Amino acid sequence: MSLSSMRLATAVLRNIPRTSINALQSYNTVSKPSPVLSSCNPKRPLSSLQVNRAKEWVEVTFETSDGASYTVQGKEGDNLLDVVVNNNVDLDGFGACEGTLSCSTCHLIFKKEDFDKIEDPCTDEELDMLDLAYGLSDTSRLGCQVCLTKALHGLKVIVPEGTADARQI
Ligand code: FES
Repeated sequence: MSLSSMRLATAVLRNIPRTSINALQSYNTVSKPSPVLSSCNPKRPLSSLQVNRAKEWVEVTFETSDGASYTVQGKEGDNLLDVVVNNNVDLDGFGACEGTLSCSTCHLIFKKEDFDKIEDPCTDEELDMLDLAYGLSDTSRLGCQVCLTKALHGLKVIVPEGTADARQI
């Protein structure tokens, strides 16, 4: 700052009433950005909508024992119960516990090659529920526990004929 600028600033400050300077100082204290906000990465998307747009669509076909076939799409990260619900797929009684791992009505049978591509591990809790499902096979999983990945694009799953709601056994 030059000497003339400093003189000008001093002259201005002398003419401002002390109460105004105090008010300005307290305003500056209050208006400091919070440490939480100032640590945010401005490049990070704030909306989950933007994140969902970046995910790819994955095509899934549900085949029922009466010959019906429903080919629909879900986003990467959706589980197969989400896909059924979001697309209003007409599967009677499917997903009765809404994904809380307590009914086994979302039992699905996969082809071996698709079964091997599933990234979500089968937990002991899922195995316990699967034991109660009708038509259990070596490639059975609960739809609410299997999330879509790009590798599963074109997936075809069989919806077994009977459903067992473990909560009523
Ligand atoms: S919806 Fe009930 S266990 Fe999957």
